Amino acid sequence: MYKIAVIPGDGTGPEVVAEGVKVLKKVSELFKIDFDFTYYDYGGERYLKTGETIPDKDIDELKTYNAIYLGAIGHPDVKPGILEKGILLKLRFELDQYINLRPIKLYPNVETPLANKNPEDIDFVVVRENTEGLYIGSGGFLKKGTPDEVAIQEMVNTRKGVERCIRYAFDYTIRRNREKKLTLCAKTNVLTYAHDLWFRTFTEVAKDYPDVKTDYAHVDATTMWMVKNPEWFDVIVTTNMFGDIITDLGAMIQGGMGVAAGGNINPEGVSMFEPIGGSAPKYTGKGMINPIAAIAAAQMMLDFLKEEEAAQKVEKAIIKTVGMMKSMSAGKMGYSTSEVGDLIVKNLED
Ligand code: IPM
Ligand code: MG
Repeated sequence: MYKIAVIPGDGTGPEVVAEGVKVLKKVSELFKIDFDFTYYDYGGERYLKTGETIPDKDIDELKTYNAIYLGAIGHPDVKPGILEKGILLKLRFELDQYINLRPIKLYPNVETPLANKNPEDIDFVVVRENTEGLYIGSGGFLKKGTPDEVAIQEMVNTRKGVERCIRYAFDYTIRRNREKKLTLCAKTNVLTYAHDLWFRTFTEVAKDYPDVKTDYAHVDATTMWMVKNPEWFDVIVTTNMFGDIITDLGAMIQGGMGVAAGGNINPEGVSMFEPIGGSAPKYTGKGMINPIAAIAAAQMMLDFLKEEEAAQKVEKAIIKTVGMMKSMSAGKMGYSTSEVGDLIVKNLED
């Protein structure tokens, strides 16, 4: 029996999470896996009513689950930063989910904006550091609002944080067992302290993994290669902010936000799975949003719960379903949000 905390969140989050849960319920029936879902109403609506994001006492409670399944966080009536810091980043930090794992995989029959690139060319994984870097929220203003204003936002990299991320990436590259190639994406030519630490740690840890081919690319070059030669990548390990940026590009080349999923992983604790697109306020409540990303996040969750067979079946159903859809874009799928969920369920049965 797996205890799953479900946070549907804002905007289209609840719609896509409903389809993911629908699929997990079918998985439960077919594979005799029991799920116990508990819902939490964190998000913009609750914040606007109560001023609360996530109460501290809830964090301990969330640590008792086998996994967390999240929809989306972000509300047009709430100032940027409050919900992100108070909910999404708080969960990542407090649960020490130090890896953000984002597969960039183009499924057959899904359109990519890259000309002449096919599913065999676009299949890599980004391992993004998830608890440090520019995301720690350290810094401040001086003389705010005056012509002499100073704004400082600190980037923190610890040897421990960098090393555990890099080790995870090497282990993951071995487990993935494809080209066994790991690329460090950083900016050593400018960030001569912070990314010197990354580079040295990468080089040292690499000695423990003689079977893994290593490579290095600056972040700007990485974006170039992702568009020009995505087939060069197997696994990329990178910092929090760079990982944030390159995985949006990754989402686009794999067919859009409608298909991109990610896992916030604490290998020793509770992990959280989410579609990486935002709350998409303009599509909210219309049944137009693509739930494939949320279903792919549920698939990643199954994989992390070591339900590999079920995870593989869900992926097969996703591949079959996307082949039946007209487009991955909201409103152009040829089906409504819940019809896509129904198709996945049907394709799981076959
Ligand atoms: C993501 C998002 C978040 C991030 C935002 C919403 C704080 O863009 O998960 O990639 O920057 O990590
Ligand atoms: Mg992002």
